[in-house]
Amino acid sequence: MWSITSGLTLCLTFLSVAVTTAQNASVALPAPARYGTLSFKVYGSVTRVTFNNPPINLVNTRLLSDLYDFMVTLQPSDRTTPAPKVVIFDSANPDFFLSHIDFNFILLPTTPELTASASQYGMVAQMFQTITSTAFIAEINGRAFGAGHELLVQMDMRFAGPNARTGPIENSVGLFAGAGGELYLGQNVGKSRALEIAMSSTAIDGPRGEAIGFFNRYYNNQQSLTNAVNTLAQRIALFPADGLNQTKSALSYLNPPATAFANEAAAAVRLRPKAEQQALVRKFISLSQNQTRSPFELNLPESLAQLYAD
Ligand SMILES: *[C@@H]1O[C@H](CO)[C@@H](O)[C@H](O)[C@H]1NC(C)=O
Ligand SMILES: *[C@@H]1O[C@H](CO)[C@@H](O)[C@H](O)[C@H]1NC(C)=O
Repeated sequence: MWSITSGLTLCLTFLSVAVTTAQNASVALPAPARYGTLSFKVYGSVTRVTFNNPPINLVNTRLLSDLYDFMVTLQPSDRTTPAPKVVIFDSANPDFFLSHIDFNFILLPTTPELTASASQYGMVAQMFQTITSTAFIAEINGRAFGAGHELLVQMDMRFAGPNARTGPIENSVGLFAGAGGELYLGQNVGKSRALEIAMSSTAIDGPRGEAIGFFNRYYNNQQSLTNAVNTLAQRIALFPADGLNQTKSALSYLNPPATAFANEAAAAVRLRPKAEQQALVRKFISLSQNQTRSPFELNLPESLAQLYAD
């Protein structure tokens, strides 16, 4: 469908080329998200997924249900048609790529609905790597702390704009990532830097993230970021699916081992019910004005010190 020659001029003609290929796309548009927290655009073998869960793209039951439903459709066992070769994730919210988990997941007692959703969360995190027939690219130009970071870090590639700020903040409430976030951070930036970032609950921004290998590339404005990600995705999509799949499969040997995930999940279960952790999470919910677009959320992770002010 695409010639190498047209690939070379993609940068200039992406919009018109996209319209042409959308008509004979090999990949179907995903069904509309049940809770409307994801929207989809399909350009040939590239699908762009936009997070939109106002006010702060909280990783809550609604967003997880939509994301789980979408990810499942990408699994080769659930498809009769080719999967997208590339899925790009971006955000409709200029301030938040994704937020942390809805902290009501952590509070005890829990509900069956939250328990089921937490299990979807773990499965979504794993599918970014178990699905080798699709490359997942994050186009991030906003905040992504806690769960947002944990999902971002398990995608295959990350490209950042000037407003990107991300990191695991779980240590600030006595918890830790629990579903691969810190394992993949260690894999991406090395153990010492991962410990520095995780134990201090501080932020990785675009330039720093590029310097330490967390972001593939940093762009200093949104348009350059989007253009570069589109050009890369369309370039990858030129090539046959089986070779791409084999490349991601082969490099999976670098992923953290299954035992590390099991240990992490078990430790998260031990830490969660502790009184200090429960109290810190309640304080977080209160300071953040119930996890809304509050100064506390907008000033993460610096605002975390307020958890320890009397
Ligand atoms: C992707 O590669 C893996 C490893 O070779 C293989 O098991 C799997 O069937 C391939 N998937 C597709 C959709 O080709
Ligand atoms: C907090 O927000 C949730 C919705 O996210 C709502 O159900 C709950 O009632 C709110 N709690 C308070 C105290 O405002």
